[in-house]
Amino acid sequence: MPQKIIIDTDPGVDDAMAIQFALNSPELEVLGLTTIYGNVSLELTTANALTLLEVAGRTDIPVAIGAAKPLNRPFGGGVAFVHGDDGLGNTFRPKSSLKAIDLSAIDFIIEQVKKYPNEITLVPLGPLTNMALALQKAPEIAELVKEVVIMGGNAFVPGNASPSGEANILNDPEAADLVFGANWPMTMIGLDVTESTLLTSKDAKEVRAASDSELNKLVCDAYVFYENFNTTNNKIDGSFLHDPSVLAYLVNPTIFSGGKYPLRVETQDGLSLGKTWPFIGDDDVLTRPASAPWRGRPAVNVMLEVDNERLVKLVMSRLR
Ligand code: BDR
Ligand code: CA
Repeated sequence: MPQKIIIDTDPGVDDAMAIQFALNSPELEVLGLTTIYGNVSLELTTANALTLLEVAGRTDIPVAIGAAKPLNRPFGGGVAFVHGDDGLGNTFRPKSSLKAIDLSAIDFIIEQVKKYPNEITLVPLGPLTNMALALQKAPEIAELVKEVVIMGGNAFVPGNASPSGEANILNDPEAADLVFGANWPMTMIGLDVTESTLLTSKDAKEVRAASDSELNKLVCDAYVFYENFNTTNNKIDGSFLHDPSVLAYLVNPTIFSGGKYPLRVETQDGLSLGKTWPFIGDDDVLTRPASAPWRGRPAVNVMLEVDNERLVKLVMSRLR
């Protein structure tokens, strides 16, 4: 039986790659895409989600619209310099004729989780606002979800949107802190592993040559802009596989390894805003007054190592 997943997403070029991966994976059943502001505005991420499904010929998969801004903060405007003004690498596709469903992302998530108790894995690839809003509206879903596997955070490495914060977490630190504190099984695929991945320019050319499907053409066209940002900004020969790593984890978790840590997110404005802080230490350290913020928090499965060779092989086999 394929794993039932809901992808919460802000496409976004690497989100588009992750969606392509999911649609090409028989191990996964995509129940829906829920959209969120992030890389670009909610309006654009929703339009992109619809376009990707239309191009893929998967008009059976619903798209539900989520939050346009963080819980308590304004939306910072996104990162067009990473993903293009349209969020899809300046491919500027004509608008899809598909429409989002009437149900909001929050209500869709709650409805589906209750319909399939303990069967659904939630897969947030953007800021965690929709997850937090769903938990606030229906806290009981924490016990009904199979797992939550996110792309986001930085446990033992610097941030990418600031020296301290990873982009998805920094977009809504309050939501992230709430979601990491919920009592549901949770795995974090953050920069600790995604910045140890690399899809080289040569690999990307191979992916492009491997398939002439409409979806592959669109994703590969969008990827050119994203790769250019990565080679220039990150000084790597290709790009990091942030969001696709989460889908790879779902299909083959043995590619990754890590440890379990209670997590807090810095929500105070200042130098460390958006930093994910794992609790490190034994029970004695946990009893000290300064450790109070971590006490009683659930342990999150934090991935810290990845076998890049196996990861890239798997990702390339699903981008077609
Ligand atoms: C994350 O931020 C976004 O730009 C990407 O889509 C990814 O989800 C990487 O930090
Ligand atoms: Ca994303």
